[in-house]
Amino acid sequence: MPRPKVYVTRRIPREAMAILEAYCDCRVFAQEDTPVPREMLLAEVADVDGAFVLLTERVDDELLAAAPRLRVVANMAVGYDNIDVAACTRRGVLVTNTPGVLTETTADLTWALLMATARRIVEAQKVIERGEWRTWSPMFLTGQDVYGRTLGIIGAGRIGSAVARRARGFDMTILYHNRRPNPDLEAETGARYAGFHELLEQSDFVVVLVPLTQETHHLINEDALRRMKPSAILINASRGPVVDETALYKALTEGWIWAAGLDVWEREPIGPDHPLLALPNVVALPHIGSASIATRTRMAVVAAENLVAGVTGRRPPNLVNPEAWDRRPAAAEGADQGG
Ligand code: DGY
Repeated sequence: MPRPKVYVTRRIPREAMAILEAYCDCRVFAQEDTPVPREMLLAEVADVDGAFVLLTERVDDELLAAAPRLRVVANMAVGYDNIDVAACTRRGVLVTNTPGVLTETTADLTWALLMATARRIVEAQKVIERGEWRTWSPMFLTGQDVYGRTLGIIGAGRIGSAVARRARGFDMTILYHNRRPNPDLEAETGARYAGFHELLEQSDFVVVLVPLTQETHHLINEDALRRMKPSAILINASRGPVVDETALYKALTEGWIWAAGLDVWEREPIGPDHPLLALPNVVALPHIGSASIATRTRMAVVAAENLVAGVTGRRPPNLVNPEAWDRRPAAAEGADQGG
Protein backbone atom coordinates (compact mmCIF):
# COMPACT_ATOMS: atom_id res chain seq x y z
CA MET A 1 0.00 0.00 0.00
CA PRO A 2 1.49 3.39 -0.91
CA ARG A 3 1.85 5.75 2.03
CA PRO A 4 -0.75 8.53 2.18
CA LYS A 5 0.44 11.95 1.04
CA VAL A 6 -0.22 14.94 3.25
CA TYR A 7 0.42 18.65 2.98
CA VAL A 8 1.23 20.68 6.11
CA THR A 9 0.68 24.39 5.69
CA ARG A 10 3.22 25.61 8.29
CA ARG A 11 6.20 24.42 10.28
CA ILE A 12 4.72 22.61 13.31
CA PRO A 13 6.22 21.23 16.53
CA ARG A 14 8.49 18.26 15.94
CA GLU A 15 6.38 15.95 18.14
CA ALA A 16 3.48 16.41 15.72
CA MET A 17 5.66 16.14 12.63
CA ALA A 18 7.04 12.82 13.92
CA ILE A 19 3.49 11.41 14.14
CA LEU A 20 2.76 12.45 10.56
CA GLU A 21 6.06 11.18 9.20
CA ALA A 22 5.60 7.76 10.79
CA TYR A 23 2.64 7.09 8.51
CA CYS A 24 2.63 9.60 5.67
CA ASP A 25 4.76 11.23 3.02
CA CYS A 26 4.72 14.89 4.06
CA ARG A 27 5.34 18.15 2.28
CA VAL A 28 5.51 21.24 4.48
CA PHE A 29 5.26 24.94 3.69
CA ALA A 30 8.36 25.79 5.67
CA GLN A 31 9.72 28.83 3.88
CA GLU A 32 8.62 31.30 6.51
CA ASP A 33 6.14 31.66 9.36
CA THR A 34 3.41 33.19 7.21
CA PRO A 35 0.39 31.63 5.51
CA VAL A 36 1.14 29.66 2.38
CA PRO A 37 0.21 31.77 -0.69
CA ARG A 38 -3.19 30.70 -1.98
CA GLU A 39 -1.99 29.71 -5.47
CA MET A 40 0.74 27.56 -3.97
CA LEU A 41 -1.75 25.94 -1.59
CA LEU A 42 -4.10 25.09 -4.45
CA ALA A 43 -1.22 23.51 -6.37
CA GLU A 44 0.15 21.64 -3.35
CA VAL A 45 -3.13 19.92 -2.48
CA ALA A 46 -3.57 18.50 -6.00
CA ASP A 47 -2.26 15.04 -5.11
CA VAL A 48 -2.72 14.79 -1.32
CA ASP A 49 -4.91 12.52 0.80
CA GLY A 50 -4.76 14.79 3.83
CA ALA A 51 -4.16 18.44 4.70
CA PHE A 52 -2.90 19.78 8.04
CA VAL A 53 -4.17 23.36 8.10
CA LEU A 54 -4.29 26.37 10.41
CA LEU A 55 -7.02 28.95 10.86
CA THR A 56 -5.15 31.11 8.32
CA GLU A 57 -6.13 28.75 5.50
CA ARG A 58 -9.53 28.93 3.81
CA VAL A 59 -10.82 25.47 2.95
CA ASP A 60 -13.67 26.03 0.52
CA ASP A 61 -15.13 24.66 -2.70
CA GLU A 62 -12.26 26.08 -4.73
CA LEU A 63 -9.67 24.26 -2.63
CA LEU A 64 -11.68 21.05 -2.56
CA ALA A 65 -12.01 21.13 -6.35
CA ALA A 66 -8.24 21.48 -6.58
CA ALA A 67 -7.75 18.46 -4.29
CA PRO A 68 -9.57 15.50 -5.86
CA ARG A 69 -7.90 12.88 -3.61
CA LEU A 70 -8.38 14.79 -0.35
CA ARG A 71 -10.00 12.70 2.40
CA VAL A 72 -9.15 14.58 5.61
CA VAL A 73 -8.64 18.19 6.64
CA ALA A 74 -7.15 18.48 10.13
CA ASN A 75 -7.45 21.98 11.58
CA MET A 76 -4.96 22.92 14.30
CA ALA A 77 -7.60 24.86 16.24
CA VAL A 78 -10.83 24.22 18.05
CA GLY A 79 -12.66 26.81 15.92
CA TYR A 80 -13.16 25.86 12.28
CA ASP A 81 -14.89 28.84 10.72
CA ASN A 82 -12.06 28.85 8.15
CA ILE A 83 -13.48 25.60 6.76
CA ASP A 84 -16.63 25.20 4.70
CA VAL A 85 -17.72 22.07 6.54
CA ALA A 86 -20.85 21.60 4.42
CA ALA A 87 -18.74 21.62 1.24
CA CYS A 88 -16.36 19.07 2.79
CA THR A 89 -19.25 16.85 3.84
CA ARG A 90 -20.75 16.98 0.33
CA ARG A 91 -17.49 15.62 -1.01
CA GLY A 92 -16.99 13.09 1.79
CA VAL A 93 -13.98 14.95 3.21
CA LEU A 94 -13.51 14.48 6.96
CA VAL A 95 -12.91 17.64 9.01
CA THR A 96 -11.27 17.54 12.44
CA ASN A 97 -10.43 20.07 15.15
CA THR A 98 -8.62 20.15 18.51
CA PRO A 99 -11.18 20.56 21.29
CA GLY A 100 -10.37 20.18 24.96
CA VAL A 101 -6.62 20.60 24.94
CA LEU A 102 -6.71 24.40 24.81
CA THR A 103 -9.59 25.04 27.20
CA GLU A 104 -7.69 25.99 30.34
CA THR A 105 -4.97 27.92 28.53
CA THR A 106 -7.52 30.02 26.68
CA ALA A 107 -9.47 30.61 29.89
CA ASP A 108 -6.24 31.82 31.55
CA LEU A 109 -5.62 34.29 28.72
CA THR A 110 -9.22 35.50 28.84
CA TRP A 111 -8.71 36.29 32.50
CA ALA A 112 -5.36 37.96 31.82
CA LEU A 113 -7.09 40.21 29.31
CA LEU A 114 -9.95 40.93 31.69
CA MET A 115 -7.61 41.87 34.53
CA ALA A 116 -5.30 43.91 32.30
CA THR A 117 -8.23 45.86 30.88
CA ALA A 118 -9.93 46.44 34.23
CA ARG A 119 -6.74 47.65 35.93
CA ARG A 120 -5.23 49.49 32.92
CA ILE A 121 -2.04 47.42 33.05
CA VAL A 122 -0.79 48.14 29.54
CA GLU A 123 -1.59 51.84 29.78
CA ALA A 124 0.24 51.98 33.11
CA GLN A 125 3.40 50.43 31.70
CA LYS A 126 3.35 52.92 28.83
CA VAL A 127 3.14 55.78 31.36
CA ILE A 128 6.38 54.59 32.96
CA GLU A 129 8.06 54.02 29.60
CA ARG A 130 7.21 57.59 28.54
CA GLY A 131 8.71 58.95 31.78
CA GLU A 132 5.32 60.32 32.89
CA TRP A 133 5.20 58.79 36.39
CA ARG A 134 5.82 61.81 38.61
CA THR A 135 4.21 60.89 41.94
CA TRP A 136 1.58 58.83 43.76
CA SER A 137 -1.74 60.54 43.17
CA PRO A 138 -5.24 59.72 44.49
CA MET A 139 -6.97 58.99 41.19
CA PHE A 140 -3.91 58.20 39.06
CA LEU A 141 -4.62 55.28 36.63
CA THR A 142 -7.66 54.17 38.57
CA GLY A 143 -9.55 51.26 37.00
CA GLN A 144 -12.46 48.95 37.71
CA ASP A 145 -12.67 46.40 40.52
CA VAL A 146 -12.98 42.77 39.55
CA TYR A 147 -13.63 41.15 42.93
CA GLY A 148 -17.32 40.81 43.76
CA ARG A 149 -18.60 42.19 40.46
CA THR A 150 -20.86 40.57 37.85
CA LEU A 151 -19.35 38.51 35.05
CA GLY A 152 -21.50 37.81 31.98
CA ILE A 153 -20.30 34.97 29.75
CA ILE A 154 -21.75 34.73 26.26
CA GLY A 155 -21.05 31.19 25.07
CA ALA A 156 -20.76 28.81 28.00
CA GLY A 157 -19.06 25.89 26.30
CA ARG A 158 -15.77 24.39 27.45
CA ILE A 159 -13.81 27.66 27.55
CA GLY A 160 -16.70 29.75 28.89
CA SER A 161 -17.18 27.22 31.71
CA ALA A 162 -13.46 27.32 32.53
CA VAL A 163 -13.65 31.12 32.68
CA ALA A 164 -16.63 30.83 35.05
CA ARG A 165 -14.75 28.42 37.35
CA ARG A 166 -11.96 30.97 37.75
CA ALA A 167 -14.53 33.66 38.64
CA ARG A 168 -15.45 31.82 41.83
CA GLY A 169 -12.09 32.86 43.25
CA PHE A 170 -13.11 36.48 42.74
CA ASP A 171 -16.47 35.94 44.42
CA MET A 172 -18.27 37.13 41.32
CA THR A 173 -21.91 36.84 40.39
CA ILE A 174 -21.83 34.79 37.20
CA LEU A 175 -24.41 35.15 34.43
CA TYR A 176 -24.21 33.20 31.22
CA HIS A 177 -26.02 33.13 27.91
CA ASN A 178 -25.89 30.10 25.68
CA ARG A 179 -27.91 28.31 23.02
CA ARG A 180 -28.93 25.85 25.73
CA PRO A 181 -28.87 26.12 29.53
CA ASN A 182 -25.84 24.41 31.07
CA PRO A 183 -26.99 22.73 34.33
CA ASP A 184 -23.48 21.36 35.06
CA LEU A 185 -22.06 24.86 34.96
CA GLU A 186 -24.84 26.14 37.20
CA ALA A 187 -24.24 23.36 39.74
CA GLU A 188 -20.47 23.83 39.71
CA THR A 189 -20.21 27.61 39.79
CA GLY A 190 -23.59 28.96 40.82
CA ALA A 191 -23.84 30.66 37.41
CA ARG A 192 -27.31 31.77 36.37
CA TYR A 193 -28.72 31.61 32.85
CA ALA A 194 -29.67 35.07 31.57
CA GLY A 195 -31.33 36.31 28.41
CA PHE A 196 -28.94 38.05 25.99
CA HIS A 197 -30.22 41.54 26.79
CA GLU A 198 -30.41 40.90 30.52
CA LEU A 199 -26.79 39.72 30.53
CA LEU A 200 -25.62 42.79 28.63
CA GLU A 201 -27.53 45.14 30.91
CA GLN A 202 -26.43 43.60 34.22
CA SER A 203 -22.82 42.57 33.68
CA ASP A 204 -19.74 44.53 34.67
CA PHE A 205 -17.68 42.28 32.39
CA VAL A 206 -19.12 40.83 29.19
CA VAL A 207 -16.92 38.00 27.95
CA VAL A 208 -17.58 36.68 24.46
CA LEU A 209 -16.64 33.05 23.80
CA VAL A 210 -18.96 31.88 21.03
CA PRO A 211 -17.91 30.16 17.81
CA LEU A 212 -18.20 32.29 14.66
CA THR A 213 -21.27 31.32 12.65
CA GLN A 214 -23.79 33.23 10.54
CA GLU A 215 -25.84 33.73 13.73
CA THR A 216 -22.96 35.10 15.81
CA HIS A 217 -21.47 37.40 13.15
CA HIS A 218 -21.66 40.93 14.66
CA LEU A 219 -23.55 39.57 17.67
CA ILE A 220 -21.98 42.45 19.59
CA ASN A 221 -23.29 45.29 17.47
CA GLU A 222 -24.39 48.84 18.18
CA ASP A 223 -27.60 47.72 19.88
CA ALA A 224 -25.75 45.26 22.15
CA LEU A 225 -23.09 47.81 23.10
CA ARG A 226 -25.69 50.47 23.90
CA ARG A 227 -27.32 48.05 26.34
CA MET A 228 -24.11 47.63 28.37
CA LYS A 229 -23.32 49.73 31.45
CA PRO A 230 -21.10 52.80 30.90
CA SER A 231 -18.69 51.20 33.39
CA ALA A 232 -18.72 47.81 31.64
CA ILE A 233 -15.80 46.06 29.98
CA LEU A 234 -16.08 43.90 26.86
CA ILE A 235 -13.67 40.99 26.43
CA ASN A 236 -13.52 39.10 23.13
CA ALA A 237 -11.43 35.93 23.02
CA SER A 238 -13.50 34.06 20.43
CA ARG A 239 -13.42 35.30 16.84
CA GLY A 240 -13.08 38.90 15.71
CA PRO A 241 -16.17 39.13 13.46
CA VAL A 242 -18.42 38.39 16.45
CA VAL A 243 -17.87 42.05 17.39
CA ASP A 244 -18.68 44.92 15.03
CA GLU A 245 -15.47 46.94 15.39
CA THR A 246 -16.97 50.11 13.93
CA ALA A 247 -19.73 50.06 16.54
CA LEU A 248 -17.17 49.22 19.24
CA TYR A 249 -15.06 52.23 18.29
CA LYS A 250 -18.11 54.47 18.72
CA ALA A 251 -18.99 52.79 22.02
CA LEU A 252 -15.50 53.37 23.40
CA THR A 253 -15.06 56.94 22.18
CA GLU A 254 -18.57 58.06 23.12
CA GLY A 255 -18.53 56.40 26.55
CA TRP A 256 -21.27 53.81 26.05
CA ILE A 257 -18.87 51.32 27.66
CA TRP A 258 -15.68 51.77 29.68
CA ALA A 259 -13.08 49.60 27.96
CA ALA A 260 -12.45 46.56 25.77
CA GLY A 261 -9.91 43.75 25.80
CA LEU A 262 -9.55 42.08 22.42
CA ASP A 263 -7.53 39.02 21.47
CA VAL A 264 -9.20 38.63 18.08
CA TRP A 265 -10.04 40.99 15.22
CA GLU A 266 -12.39 41.27 12.30
CA ARG A 267 -9.47 41.02 9.82
CA GLU A 268 -6.32 39.43 11.17
CA PRO A 269 -3.55 40.35 11.40
CA ILE A 270 -4.07 44.00 12.30
CA GLY A 271 -1.30 46.58 12.09
CA PRO A 272 -0.36 49.55 14.30
CA ASP A 273 -2.69 51.83 12.32
CA HIS A 274 -5.86 49.99 13.43
CA PRO A 275 -8.22 52.68 14.82
CA LEU A 276 -8.93 50.78 18.05
CA LEU A 277 -5.24 50.77 18.95
CA ALA A 278 -5.30 54.55 19.24
CA LEU A 279 -7.68 54.30 22.21
CA PRO A 280 -6.19 54.13 25.71
CA ASN A 281 -9.13 52.02 26.91
CA VAL A 282 -8.36 49.13 24.56
CA VAL A 283 -6.04 46.26 25.44
CA ALA A 284 -5.04 44.53 22.22
CA LEU A 285 -3.53 41.10 21.73
CA PRO A 286 -2.59 39.20 18.54
CA HIS A 287 -4.86 36.12 18.83
CA ILE A 288 -2.81 34.31 21.48
CA GLY A 289 -5.60 32.68 23.51
CA SER A 290 -4.14 29.18 23.29
CA ALA A 291 -0.51 30.24 22.98
CA SER A 292 1.34 28.38 25.70
CA ILE A 293 4.19 26.12 24.61
CA ALA A 294 2.53 23.02 26.05
CA THR A 295 -0.89 23.75 24.61
CA ARG A 296 0.22 24.68 21.10
CA THR A 297 2.35 21.53 21.03
CA ARG A 298 -0.60 19.46 22.21
CA MET A 299 -2.89 21.05 19.60
CA ALA A 300 -0.43 20.15 16.84
CA VAL A 301 -0.15 16.57 18.15
CA VAL A 302 -3.94 16.19 18.34
CA ALA A 303 -4.33 17.54 14.80
CA ALA A 304 -1.62 15.15 13.57
CA GLU A 305 -3.33 12.20 15.28
CA ASN A 306 -6.64 13.18 13.71
CA LEU A 307 -5.04 13.41 10.29
CA VAL A 308 -3.21 10.09 10.52
CA ALA A 309 -6.38 8.34 11.70
CA GLY A 310 -8.35 9.74 8.77
CA VAL A 311 -5.83 8.97 6.03
CA THR A 312 -5.24 5.43 7.34
CA GLY A 313 -8.95 4.60 7.30
CA ARG A 314 -9.74 5.02 11.00
CA ARG A 315 -12.37 7.36 12.39
CA PRO A 316 -10.54 10.47 13.66
CA PRO A 317 -11.08 11.15 17.37
CA ASN A 318 -12.19 14.74 16.84
CA LEU A 319 -14.42 14.52 13.83
CA VAL A 320 -16.48 17.64 13.17
CA ASN A 321 -18.64 16.15 10.38
CA PRO A 322 -19.59 12.54 11.27
CA GLU A 323 -21.95 12.58 8.25
CA ALA A 324 -18.89 12.52 5.99
CA TRP A 325 -17.64 9.39 7.79
CA ASP A 326 -20.98 7.64 7.29
CA ARG A 327 -21.01 8.60 3.61
CA ARG A 328 -17.53 7.41 2.69
CA PRO A 329 -17.45 4.44 0.24
CA ALA A 330 -15.93 2.10 2.87
CA ALA A 331 -18.93 2.68 5.15
CA ALA A 332 -21.32 1.45 2.48
CA GLU A 333 -19.25 -1.73 2.20
CA GLY A 334 -19.23 -2.18 5.99
CA ALA A 335 -15.44 -2.00 6.05
CA ASP A 336 -15.32 -0.26 9.43
CA GLN A 337 -17.41 -2.86 11.21
CA GLY A 338 -16.43 -5.85 13.28
CA GLY A 339 -13.99 -4.47 15.71
C1 DGY B 1 -8.77 28.06 18.20
O1 DGY B 1 -8.27 26.97 18.49
O2 DGY B 1 -9.82 28.16 17.60
C2 DGY B 1 -8.05 29.25 18.63
O3 DGY B 1 -8.59 30.44 18.22
C3 DGY B 1 -6.61 29.15 18.22
O4 DGY B 1 -5.98 29.40 19.39
